[in-house]
Amino acid sequence: MKNTWPVIVATLVAVLFSSSVAAQTRAERKLAGVLGNAKAVEAAAESGKKSSFFCGNCHGADGNSAIPEVPNLAGQNPVFLLEQIRKFAEGQRKNEFMEKMIRVLSDDDKVNIALYYAQQPVKPRPVGDVALQARGMEWFGKVCIRCHGEQGRGNERIARIAGQQPTYLSLTLTRYRDRTGERIDPLMATNTAFLKDEDIKALVEYVSHMK
Ligand code: HEC
Ligand code: HEC
Repeated sequence: MKNTWPVIVATLVAVLFSSSVAAQTRAERKLAGVLGNAKAVEAAAESGKKSSFFCGNCHGADGNSAIPEVPNLAGQNPVFLLEQIRKFAEGQRKNEFMEKMIRVLSDDDKVNIALYYAQQPVKPRPVGDVALQARGMEWFGKVCIRCHGEQGRGNERIARIAGQQPTYLSLTLTRYRDRTGERIDPLMATNTAFLKDEDIKALVEYVSHMK
């Protein structure tokens, strides 16, 4: 008899993968269903607040992170948040802790937490380096505005970057540019490829001060 292990393993992988894809599709459908309905959004965000108590240790209870490498989730588009959760769960985005953490969340938790954080306001930062911000604004207008929007608030597919943590921003931009593998996105790799370290510094100073 031929060795059947490869077939068994391949089947198992396919089943596991399709079940995780199906689960995510369920979460996406649920979110889409809730989003049209103000009362349902409010109820979901209310239970998301409770389920997010552990996330708050790093991301801040109101989604404004106090840890430099940890992103704010406040004000982020809920569809974008759910998509990043999917990427962690399926290994398309690399962060050992987040990959494990996200796998234990139920579909309801994912949707409710995304809705809770999306509703929280982003705290503004103190004034900062105005000259550097002006240089960052030029780059932003030339490159980033096209997708992230005039106010840097993104949409369902594109991140809100306005007011984001500066250390996280520069870490993330450098990863896209250098294609280190933690964040894989062809659009962001192309649109950062030509930036020097000092350009990233200026962009970060500008973007982290956007409201
Ligand atoms: C121990 C700290 C820690 C905890 C607890 C934590 N996270 Fe994170 N989270 C991180 C870090 C660090 C990143 C950034 C990873 C990277 O560099 O790409 C992140 C990124 C994210 C992102 C991507 C945001 C973006 O702007 O792209 C989402 C969504 C997220 N976390 C959701 C959650 C949720 C939901 C929970 C609770 C169930 C949680 N996190 C708990 C540390 C944490
Ligand atoms: C062609 C469209 C496009 C352009 C131009 C673009 N971005 Fe993006 N950006 C995206 C998309 C799509 C994502 C989500 C990628 C992912 O899932 O990792 C993203 C993600 C990001 C993130 C990660 C945010 C987070 O919390 O996860 C940062 C930071 C960012 N962009 C900054 C910039 C800056 C700064 C510029 C200008 C130099 C720029 N982007 C230009 C489309 C674009």
